[in-house]
Amino acid sequence: MNKTYLEAAVEIAQEAGKVLREEMDRPPTIAYKGDFDLVTQADRRSEALIVGRLQECFPDHAVAAEEGTGKDTASEYRWHVDPLDGTTNFAHGYPCFCVSMALARKGELLVGVIYNPVYNELYAAARGEGATFNGGKIHCSKIDALKNSLLCTGFPNHDRQANPNFHFYWDFTLRSHGVRRDGSAALDLAYVAMGRLDSFWEFGLKPWDTAAGIVLVEEAGGKVTDMQGKPYVLGGASILVSNGLIHEEMVRVAAEVSGAR
Ligand code: IPD
Ligand code: CA
Ligand code: CA
Repeated sequence: MNKTYLEAAVEIAQEAGKVLREEMDRPPTIAYKGDFDLVTQADRRSEALIVGRLQECFPDHAVAAEEGTGKDTASEYRWHVDPLDGTTNFAHGYPCFCVSMALARKGELLVGVIYNPVYNELYAAARGEGATFNGGKIHCSKIDALKNSLLCTGFPNHDRQANPNFHFYWDFTLRSHGVRRDGSAALDLAYVAMGRLDSFWEFGLKPWDTAAGIVLVEEAGGKVTDMQGKPYVLGGASILVSNGLIHEEMVRVAAEVSGAR
């Protein structure tokens, strides 16, 4: 096995992307994992390909994959795999979804790859080596005030009534150029890394939603914490990422919103 982890992840994410493209041309087969949590044949086929290829390339690595077909071993290496991030978009033919893969060693994220097969957009990063978009280096934006920023957030597909995000969404909308809701957390993070967005936050995301995007944002010069400005723990209750320059302001406003509720 001569390939680096990053090369292997890029290759596998692109193969999985091909599966998603094929599935786009068929009527979606929608099933529900919870109240509004969709799963399609595309999620399952993409995951089968990724898990199979990772096992071929790295037979001793653990794989945590969203649809539950990964492999839990005692390895210090663990892949975090979202075979299709943006399933609801996919199921409606809304072209905003991706494959997201990250590798961690002893909990430290080393490599992150996010691939949007509709636009053939590939985001890749390795710890200490910077972040790229379709092969060219990327950096977070230089916007340094919330009032001049474009933000993004997301809302979960499960326990929707319990989610506090509407309050934050409302407040940040009034204080910025606007808040997008694109429906793919992994792509949202990649967009912060390449400067299309200045910040993104969400509550209740899972490790496979955020792991790859974290490597991208950090390698592109941005910052990752929770909504209180404390270190983000993979799978933690909230995540806040930004270009770094508006981070403190985001945390301050988030505290005001929390306090007012
Ligand atoms: C979802 C997307 C969405 C986010 C949800 C996630 P899925 O992932 O990332 O943007 O708001 O919280 O669950 O289910 O499409 O893989
Ligand atoms: Ca996801
Ligand atoms: Ca998914």
